[in-house]
Amino acid sequence: MIKVDRRAFLGSLGTAAAVGAMSHEARAEAVEHYMIERLNSDKGADGDKIADQLDFYDPERTVPRGTGRLFAENKNLKPMPAKPTLVDFYELRFAPARHVLQSAKRALTTGQPERTVLACLMHDIVLNLVKPDHGWWGAQLIEPYVDERVSWGIRYHQALRFFPDSEVGYEYPDFYNRIFGEDYEPDPHIQRAYKQARDHKWYMEARLITMNDEYAFDREAKVSIDPFVDIVGRNFKQPKEGLGNDDSPSSHMWRAIANPNRPL
Ligand SMILES: [Fe+2]
Ligand SMILES: [Fe+2]
Repeated sequence: MIKVDRRAFLGSLGTAAAVGAMSHEARAEAVEHYMIERLNSDKGADGDKIADQLDFYDPERTVPRGTGRLFAENKNLKPMPAKPTLVDFYELRFAPARHVLQSAKRALTTGQPERTVLACLMHDIVLNLVKPDHGWWGAQLIEPYVDERVSWGIRYHQALRFFPDSEVGYEYPDFYNRIFGEDYEPDPHIQRAYKQARDHKWYMEARLITMNDEYAFDREAKVSIDPFVDIVGRNFKQPKEGLGNDDSPSSHMWRAIANPNRPL
């Protein structure tokens, strides 16, 4: 589990005034993104350069905090194949993707249903495109290609992280208390989403994502997309034209991920 240094984290968000101006929800989102970025960093857990890789650390604020990873980092991307598959996206755009791969690995090794493994595998991939309200964006990204319960769970996992459920053993993440203090209150739209999910027959689809999420910040774990290729094959409706070429309601989102340098 990655340790979060409160001072380093708050420093990464900017000045005290800037932190004060952020909503509780925005700060909670920043914690998750901070941890994912640290996890994906190749510089070592305590390397001095890690902060340089965090888009929200940018002291000049040239890039808004919610900019997706592929758009915040000006790196040389390899070209995508003419008919890209979901696995191509993991290898060429989402890599190293340690957080989602670890989440999915936990679901797989604890014997959870394939659709839960798939949901964990995909629950945060949209952070490559955009960060605010990533549950909603992430659900829309994959909706045309998966069982409705998978995208539903991803939509609501964002809200459920902030609400404990002792019946299933989900506790409020302790690091949220340490980072934000005890007075944290999610934004109203998050509270509404929580109530909707809590009363829904598919509640556990989203809850299971949050339960695998919490354990998925281990830098030492060895992960790869390989153990999930068959599950993707059975549960993800891969378009024969390639993701982005199939004119689905979210094709434009896949094209933006494939080609973040397109000017218009
Ligand atoms: Fe998430
Ligand atoms: Fe996550």
